[in-house]
Amino acid sequence: MASKTLRTPLLPVTELEHSEFCRLDDDLAARPLAEEMAAHIRWQEIPPEYLHLDARQLDQRIGAARTALGNRLVVLGHHYQREEVIKYADLQGDSFKLAQHAASQEEAEYIIFCGVHFMAETADILSKPHQQVLLPNINAGCSMADMAPTDDALDCWDDLVNVLGEGAIVPITYMNSTAAIKALCGRSGGIVCTSSNAPELMAWGFEQAERVLFLPDEHLGRNTAVKLGIPLEKVVLWNPFKPMGGLTEEQILEAKVILWRGHCAVHTRFRTAQIDAARQRFPDVNVMVHPECTHEVVQAADLNGSTEQIIKAVTEAPSGSVWAIGTEINLVQRLALGNPGKTVFSLDSVVCPCSTMYRIHPAYLTWVMEELLKGNVVNRIEVDSETKADAKLALQRMLDATADRNTD
Ligand code: 13P
Ligand code: SF4
Repeated sequence: MASKTLRTPLLPVTELEHSEFCRLDDDLAARPLAEEMAAHIRWQEIPPEYLHLDARQLDQRIGAARTALGNRLVVLGHHYQREEVIKYADLQGDSFKLAQHAASQEEAEYIIFCGVHFMAETADILSKPHQQVLLPNINAGCSMADMAPTDDALDCWDDLVNVLGEGAIVPITYMNSTAAIKALCGRSGGIVCTSSNAPELMAWGFEQAERVLFLPDEHLGRNTAVKLGIPLEKVVLWNPFKPMGGLTEEQILEAKVILWRGHCAVHTRFRTAQIDAARQRFPDVNVMVHPECTHEVVQAADLNGSTEQIIKAVTEAPSGSVWAIGTEINLVQRLALGNPGKTVFSLDSVVCPCSTMYRIHPAYLTWVMEELLKGNVVNRIEVDSETKADAKLALQRMLDATADRNTD
């Protein structure tokens, strides 16, 4: 076997930037972009005329641009977007619902995706050839997706197939991954899953092969394996910074699930001690967390689910009920405001928005819309045709395997 050069372990820059927006007060109201640019993250530069516009001016300009663009434009928004951005979304959703919506769009020439890079790539892969997808801030990535660089994932797959042989393992990637990783899954008989369908799609994986490689979120992978009844000793962790992932051939042969070592900085902040504290304060509290949280946190919670499933649980709960939520703060605050008869709060007392979702400041939205009005497409996300074809196989398998699901 050819020897491979291992990279020096490095945290993605996006991971290091996450704490920049953390604060102790809970005021998430958008300030002019020039003020927000004081946070030390990589902001995309845009014309200076957009930097000092206040919330009212931005609101007025976005409203005017939307009206002028009419049904040439559709705006999709993920639940973690700020209030000042999500209010312009024609459709809000979790990543599964947004992917379904991107695939069903026929009319709009432009899809502005208020979310992160992998979501816009997915929309480009699933949209029609005449449509163009735009991401308002080109630096809105995802630190978890950045933890699975293409070359490392390709090396991992080659190593596993060398040890196990063709057909003995199937790759499943979480939606939160690059188009290149989705393409690897597509051409290797694998599939994409989201947090709302991971258990049924991991079960699908076991119908194809004896073992599953799950990437890039070790926590969603572990939580899903446990939901399927797979014992933890059959779940091993592939460390991309070590030869053969730090595993022996025997460990790989013994495993049912091989997890890529990746995580979400937002969801791994939640701790079982926060759940204990919430239960002390409100003995009848319902604790619901996102399955990107650690196994211990998911086990200690009452419920876990995707953003859409969290919204459904809280919205349908009886008046007077109490909810402690472990997911991104913009969604938790929106749930609290939208359910005045219930007590809804974040498990974490520190307010830490996802720093990559948060980069979609309304000034960027104004800029991309006004450029469209001038006939300029800026920040287009376009996946190359070969990657697109392979990634589409994996995404289409997910849509086909879950075709009868209604995510509303
Ligand atoms: P959902 O699919 O639950 O919306 O999750 C997306 C995400 O990025 C969670 O961190
Ligand atoms: Fe990525 Fe985590 Fe942000 Fe979701 S919340 S986009 S997984 S960094």
